[in-house]
Parts: sequence; C-alpha cells; structure tokens
Amino acid sequence: MLITLIFCLSFALQINAGVVSTSSSFNMTEELEKIEKTCLSDEEHNELSGNQYKRGWATLFNSPTISMAIDVIGQTELREALGIPQYSGSYEDYKSPISEEEFKSTSNLEEYFEWITMSKIGDDAQNYAITDKDVITAIRFLDKKWPAIRIIFKNQLEELIERIRRQGFRIGKNDNMKSQKRKMDRKVMYKVYYEYLGIWEKIFSATGGMYENKACRKYTRPDTSMLHFKTLKGCVKHTWL
Ligand SMILES: *[C@@H]1O[C@H](CO)[C@@H](O)[C@H](O)[C@H]1NC(C)=O
Repeated sequence: MLITLIFCLSFALQINAGVVSTSSSFNMTEELEKIEKTCLSDEEHNELSGNQYKRGWATLFNSPTISMAIDVIGQTELREALGIPQYSGSYEDYKSPISEEEFKSTSNLEEYFEWITMSKIGDDAQNYAITDKDVITAIRFLDKKWPAIRIIFKNQLEELIERIRRQGFRIGKNDNMKSQKRKMDRKVMYKVYYEYLGIWEKIFSATGGMYENKACRKYTRPDTSMLHFKTLKGCVKHTWL
C-alpha cells in the first residue's frame, strides 16, 4: 500500500515536471509549433469527442468542438484577467439576458462582455450541435494534451491587460491605483476582446495542423462540406454510417 502510494506520488511529480509552466523557459512560438506538428491518433480523436463515434468519424466532428473548447478556455482566462465573474450557465442553451436593443445601449460592461463573447459560443454550439458535455470533455482533453494552450492565453492576456493599465484604465473593481484614472468603457472592452480573438485564432490555427498530419491515423475522412454538418453528425451518431 505504502509502496503503491510512493510510486504514485513520484509518478505524479514526474508528470508535473513535464508540464511547461515557467515563464522564463516558455516560448509561445515553439509551443504553437509543437501543437501544429502533432499527429492525433484515432484513439485520441475518439477520446476528445467523448467516444461517440466509430471508425475515424470523430476527426471530422472534432474541429468545431476544438474551436469552441479553445474559446471557452480562453474566455475563462479572459474573465479571470478582467476580474469578471466566471460564466456558469449552459453553452448549448445559451440565451442572452438582454435583448439586442438593450445590448446596444447598455453601459453595464459585464452585460456587454457577455453579449460579445457568449453570442459566438452559443451560435457555435447550435450550428454544430455541440453539447455542454462535448465541450467539457474536449477541454479536459486539451488541458491534458496541451497545457500550453492555457498558459499561452494567461501570458498573452497578462501582457494585454498590463498594456491597457499602462494607459491608465482600471481593470476590475479592485483596481484602485492612483494612476488608474480612466474607467473601462465599451470601446476599450471591445478592443480587449478583439485582441483576445487574435490569440484564440493563433492557437486554433495551430491545432489545424493536426488535420493535415494523418501519418499516425488509420482512418482518414475527406473534407466534407459543412453544409449539412448537423444532419451528418446526427446520422453518424445514430450509427447509420
Ligand atoms: C522562441 O523560439 C523561436 C523559434 O525557435 C525563436 O526564433 C525566438 O527567438 C524565441 N523567442 C524567445 C523569446 O526566446
């Protein structure tokens, strides 16, 4: 029992040691290249999709799920960086608490933030029939396979927020430094989100590389038009294919 425990502990330590985390040795370009060059096996694609598909079909459906999962990881870090409470509702049934009219005139920055960020996520979930469970499974897989994704968001957002603060803007309710005289407004918030999207895009396009890399896969699927994506997904799930 004790031996097992010691073995497990040292194993856990080794796993942690393998995780990239120190900022001095962390190189984003290199980490993105590593992601780009990865070949995800059929088994890994299945795991990412929560083992819902057979014979390589997961590879086809994982792309929008990965896109959305990276967005959710990034937005979690973005909310953290901005001091905005985390979103805890459903993604697949996302309903905005305010109407489009109210959104256009809201001065409540949290409402504004939720509208611009969550509308995209809600649309993705509905357009590609991605469930909350799919997203959670994918995030768990991505955090395990590429912890660098979250670290890249953290590092890049820290830099971004620092840049905004240097312009005198207060970030979050507790930012009461004397030099922070300017209150964040919708314009600055949108700029932050726009730059965030740039980070998301960089990471998502790196994961695109693994679709090119089929060397380790037994099953390859042709690029099927996304036109009837939802229908096709439904068919495959019901094992007609
Ligand atoms: C990160 O890695 C790239 C490619 O290897 C290199 O060109 C760049 O100088 C590195 N950046 C830093 C800050 O070390």
